[in-house]
Amino acid sequence: MTIPARIRYTLYVQPIDLPVFNPVALEVLGLLEDPYTDILDVVRLIGEDQALTAQVLRMANSASYAGRSRCETIKNAAIRLGARQMSNIAMAASHASLHASDSPLVNDIMQDLWLHSHACALGCRSVALSTGQHAVADKAYLAGLLHDIGKLYILKAMDHISQTMDVKHALERSLLQEIFSEMHVDLGCRVMDHWNLPSVYRDVAAYHHAEQCDSRNILLTIVRMVNFNSRNFHLNIYPTLGETGGDHAETSPLFMDDVSWTKMEDAMTASLIHFT
Ligand SMILES: [Fe+2]
Ligand SMILES: [Fe+2]
Repeated sequence: MTIPARIRYTLYVQPIDLPVFNPVALEVLGLLEDPYTDILDVVRLIGEDQALTAQVLRMANSASYAGRSRCETIKNAAIRLGARQMSNIAMAASHASLHASDSPLVNDIMQDLWLHSHACALGCRSVALSTGQHAVADKAYLAGLLHDIGKLYILKAMDHISQTMDVKHALERSLLQEIFSEMHVDLGCRVMDHWNLPSVYRDVAAYHHAEQCDSRNILLTIVRMVNFNSRNFHLNIYPTLGETGGDHAETSPLFMDDVSWTKMEDAMTASLIHFT
């Protein structure tokens, strides 16, 4: 299906500040760029947003993150999980809540997209930890979570456009998938630039479908491999047409062994049975 020119034009020129990030979660992310950030700063910032606090606690106590004891407060959770993991959960919890729409079709696709993004976040963190890349495990989580941010932007934008333009015919699954395939990388980069996200995440958004992968970029390598394999676990309902990486080209520089594969699969499929 061809993307109507009017829709293509509108997607590229309309204001970019649609809510694809929670401002508080972005502030938390900013804190993490400072190596001297105190865990209490993260606790205070999350605590300023009641809805975010509730979402973070719910997620921290869910199957993929919970320890033996339940966390009743953000401070408990931060002490148990550490500032970085806590911040990642804040980003993920806020991100989950943005995947909602009054349009049943858009809402349905958003839920699939959330499952995919969250599974990739968990998978990327697992791969980093199991292949000796501990230093980038938290960044790998965020890179996995945000690699398809362009798709969320497209869904928000199409929702917006459908209320202001006569594009009812456009809200069809096949057309949305075509827009994903053609535009989600470019629009993901625009969103990252607009919100001034660190370049490591922008690079992942920019090159996660590129034909050639620079294996020296370990975050990109991890995301590409996990993203591709998400299809094996039915966690990528809308793969990008012509998606590359089918020969697991990224596996060898990561030194994945059987244990790494199993851990990755367990981490990704855990996202199917809890917090949505
Ligand atoms: Fe993608
Ligand atoms: Fe993806």
